[in-house]
Amino acid sequence: MYNFDEKIIRKNTNCVKYDALDTYFGEEDLQPLWVADMDFKVPDVINDAIMNRAKHGIYGYAKASEKTYSLVQKWMKKRHNWEIKTDWISFVNGVVPAYSAAIEALSNEGDEVIVQTPVYFPLFKQVKQNGRVLITNPLKETDGYYTMDLEDLKSKITPKTKILTLCSPHNPVGRVWNKEELTQLAQICIENNITIISDEIHADIVFKEFTPLASISKEISDITLTLNSPGKTFNIAGLNCAYAISENKKILMTYENIVKKRELNSINVFGFTALEAAYEFGEKWLEELLQYLNLNINFTKEYLKNNNSKIIFLEPESTYLLWFSFKNHSISHAKVKQKLLIESKIALNDGTSFGPEGKGFFRLNCALPKANLENALSKIVTYF
Ligand SMILES: Cc1ncc(COP(=O)(O)O)c(C=O)c1O
Repeated sequence: MYNFDEKIIRKNTNCVKYDALDTYFGEEDLQPLWVADMDFKVPDVINDAIMNRAKHGIYGYAKASEKTYSLVQKWMKKRHNWEIKTDWISFVNGVVPAYSAAIEALSNEGDEVIVQTPVYFPLFKQVKQNGRVLITNPLKETDGYYTMDLEDLKSKITPKTKILTLCSPHNPVGRVWNKEELTQLAQICIENNITIISDEIHADIVFKEFTPLASISKEISDITLTLNSPGKTFNIAGLNCAYAISENKKILMTYENIVKKRELNSINVFGFTALEAAYEFGEKWLEELLQYLNLNINFTKEYLKNNNSKIIFLEPESTYLLWFSFKNHSISHAKVKQKLLIESKIALNDGTSFGPEGKGFFRLNCALPKANLENALSKIVTYF
């Protein structure tokens, strides 16, 4: 059994979550439950592999081996029942860099890209940064449960719409889109010649069955570029090893050309080492992690209830990110933000950074030892 209760000091390790509090919040003395990485050590199998590789002592330019490709294929088959071929896979140094390259590759300046907000902010920021027109198709919320608004989507498509960005599972609302929802969405895109970029980085941290979009049918696979990585799953985001997958040769080649142009295809040598160890030997750790996260999610729910807090959230179907609604408090969003920082002394992600639909929400990362989570919750409920 892995010990997820172990408290590990992360301060002064060049880590954004703890060491950049002052930059992002203007305060240093905060308990950080924001950036989407975990306060847990990676499984020993990953650390051992990295240390073994380090013993070699030469860290020149790295490339994927046959084994790297085959481990990605096996992982997709085993965890998500998705058969992919070696030549559908293309390694890259991060999902966000890959996404940005894909926007440039699969659309032209002035074209429209549709993004479903509220969503992980680089997914809409990159649209504008690449000179494309951002069109939003906000999700619909009913009592904290989010669904896609396909009628709104259809009404927003024009001849200039070239890409739809899918966040699946969805950060921050925690939905695992079901097969029916995905099929309906893809059908609209097929009918309108729209390519889907499906960011599936949270696919392994799920509490119900996940369906990779491109696994649904050949027709859907043909319009999809999937992005993924072991970064979230195994807490190795800082090793910058991700990959894109597409069965459609034209999509993959066009994308790869931009990746090469932007020099995004040189991957950290330890990234490959970690990915291989994770996918070959990390599954048991992942199962235990999922149980621990589930306990933390339920603990949070109970804690808020037992302390009569007015904060509400729905248990996520995926991710360790809890989408806290403060809408029952009769104070403004700005006031909630100020109270969290000044009184509770907790750093959460501001809901509005995910889009205007995030007003009234703050995102809490519960991937930390339960005792630390309890400490954070007690500081929150004292003031809310
Ligand atoms: C949906 C989503 N995509 C991508 C990323 C970041 O991916 P990477 O670190 O590989 O660029 C995150 C990190 O939080 C995320 O939530």
